[in-house]
Amino acid sequence: MCGIVGYCGLENAEERIIQGLEKLEYRGYDSAGISVINSNKEIKTVKRVGKLKALKEALKDIPLDGKVGVGHTRWATHGVPSNVNSHPQLSQNGKFAVVHNGIIENFLDLKKKLQNQGYQFKSDTDTEVISNLFEFYQEDDFLATALKVSRALEGAYAIGVICQDHPDQLIAIRHESPLIIGVEDNGYIIASDIPALLNYTREVISLKNGELALVEKDSIHFYDFEGHTLKKETEHIDIDIEAASKDGYDHFMLKEIYEQPDVIKKSLDNKFPHGKLNLMDQSFSKEELLSIETIYFTACGTAYHAAEVGMRAMEKLLHKKCQSEIASELKYYQPFIDEKTLLIVVSQSGETGDTLAAMREAKEKGAKILAVTNVVGSSIAREADKVIYCNAGPEISVASTKAYTTQLISLYALAIDFAQKLNCISDQDVEKYIKELYTLPSKVQELLDHREKYKDLAEKIKGAKSIFYLGRGIDYLSAKEGALKLKEISYINAVAFQSGELKHGSIALLEDGLPVVCIISQENLVDKSISNVKEVKARGAYALAIAQKNFKNVQEVSDDTIFIPETLDIFTPVLSVLPQQLLAYETSLALGNDVDKPRNLAKSVTVE
Ligand code: F6R
Repeated sequence: MCGIVGYCGLENAEERIIQGLEKLEYRGYDSAGISVINSNKEIKTVKRVGKLKALKEALKDIPLDGKVGVGHTRWATHGVPSNVNSHPQLSQNGKFAVVHNGIIENFLDLKKKLQNQGYQFKSDTDTEVISNLFEFYQEDDFLATALKVSRALEGAYAIGVICQDHPDQLIAIRHESPLIIGVEDNGYIIASDIPALLNYTREVISLKNGELALVEKDSIHFYDFEGHTLKKETEHIDIDIEAASKDGYDHFMLKEIYEQPDVIKKSLDNKFPHGKLNLMDQSFSKEELLSIETIYFTACGTAYHAAEVGMRAMEKLLHKKCQSEIASELKYYQPFIDEKTLLIVVSQSGETGDTLAAMREAKEKGAKILAVTNVVGSSIAREADKVIYCNAGPEISVASTKAYTTQLISLYALAIDFAQKLNCISDQDVEKYIKELYTLPSKVQELLDHREKYKDLAEKIKGAKSIFYLGRGIDYLSAKEGALKLKEISYINAVAFQSGELKHGSIALLEDGLPVVCIISQENLVDKSISNVKEVKARGAYALAIAQKNFKNVQEVSDDTIFIPETLDIFTPVLSVLPQQLLAYETSLALGNDVDKPRNLAKSVTVE
C-alpha cells in the first residue's frame, strides 16, 4: 500500500531511491515519482502514471543529480492515479516535497483550514495537505516544523520530506505505517520495507509509532512528537538477498510456489525442533489456556482462508466450538469478546490495517492476542501477546502462496500445542500428526514435479466469464482460496460454493461449458462430492476435479482430474491448494496479465 524511499548522504540519491522503489513496487504500482535536491539547492521532481518503468524511462531524459531525495510508488487511495495525484506532493511554494504511505484521517479539516489561509490545492490527495502544512508551519528549524506537522496529523502515516531551505536534511516520520532506516557508511536510506535497503546495507533502525528521525548526511537523531530525544539501536538484518529476487523464475509468484516444500519444512523445523513440538514462548501456558473460554480467529483475504482452516483444526483437536470473523467486520462487531477470549490473528505482512484494527479493539476489551505472521517485528507481531512466525521468507508476489501454506503449518502446530496442553489428545496422536506433517514437503514437491498439465487446463478455462469452485467441509475453505487466487490474477469472476448449497439457488447460473473446479479430499464426503460433480456435469458444465489419489471414481465422472497425495483430512488444504495456485498462475499468464502485480491491488493493505 504505497512504498516510500528516501536518501540523505554522500552518494547519488536517484540511484538508491529508484533501486529501492523497484523492490517496493509490490506495495502499489499506479504511479511513481521522485524529488531530489540538486547542486543548485533546488527541488527537482519527476512523476509518471503507471508502473515504475514509466518513471525510469522519463529519468533517462531528465536525470536528477543530487544527494538528498525522496521517492514513492503509489496505490491510490485519495484521488485517481494521475501525474498530479502522484507523490512526491510539493507545497504551494515548492519548497517542501513529501512522500506518504497511509491515510490522513483529518485531512478535510486540515485542508479547509489551509484553504481559509489562502492555500490552493492542485491534487485530490491527503498528502498535499501534509506538504502545505509544512509550509504553513515553517520555522527556521526543519525539525521544529516537522514536530508541529506531526502533532497536527491524525491517521496512519509514514512520511519522508525534504526541504529546499535545508538541502542537507531529510525528515522521516512514522505513525501506524511502517518505516525503517538503513544505515550506510556514507548516508542513510529510509524505506517502507527491508528489501529496499538490502543492496546497500543490512544495518537497520526501525521507527516506532510516534517517532521522527532527522537525517543528515553523516548523522541521525531521533525524537518523539513532543521533541524529546530518543536513543535507538541498530539491528543487523540477516535476510538472504536471493530470497528477495526472482532467482531465474519468470515471476515471483512461480518462485514462491516452488519454494513451498522448503519453507514448509523450515516452518515445521521451527515449531517441532528435533521432531518434538516446542513452541516455547510463542504460545500460552496450560494455566493461561485454562482461563480462556472463547477462541476467535480473524484475518483478511488469503490469511483469513488459512485462519478458517486453523479454526477447523482447532475445533477438531480440542472438541470445542471456535469462531472466526473477517477482520474488517470484527473491528465493528465484538459483542462476545472479553478478557476470557483469545483472538488468533493471521497476517503475512503483519501490517494489514483491518487486522490491526480488529486486534486493537479486541485488546482494548481485554482479549489475549496470538499472532501468526510472516514478518518479524511487524506491527501485529509487536502488539500481540504471543507470536508464531510462519518462516516463509519474503513474499513479494501480490498473490499469496507460500505464506498461506506456512500459515496453515503454524496453525496446525498451534492446534496440536493447545490440544496437548489441555489433554485433549493422546501422545500417540501428537506423534501421528507430527509424522504426517513432515510428509507434506515431499508431497507438495510431488505435485510441483507435474506442472505440464496446467498450461492446457488454463487454455480450457481462460475464456470463461465465470468459474465456480465447489467443496464440502474443509474442501470448501480450500475452494475459497482457489477462487480468490484465480480472480485476483486472471480477473475472471470465480466464486466458491459449499457443494451441497449449490442446488439451493446458484445452480441456476450453470450453463454449457462453465468451468467448475471441484475439490474432493475428504474420505467421509467423497460419495456426496461425486454426486455434486454429476449434478454440474448434467447441466453441461466442464468439471475439473482436484481429488485425493485413492478416490479413483472421481476420474470417471469428471472431464479432467488432478490427483493429490493422501494425507490426514485436516492437512489436505496444504496439498489441494497447490493445483489451484498453479492453475491461477497459468491462467493469468495465458491471458497476458501481470502475474505479480495484478491491477488495483497492493501487497500490504495498511489502510482500513
Ligand atoms: C491474496 C492476498 C490477500 C492477503 C490479505 C491479507 O493473495 O494476498 O488477500 O492475504 O490482504 O494480507 P496479510 O496476510 O498481509 O494480512
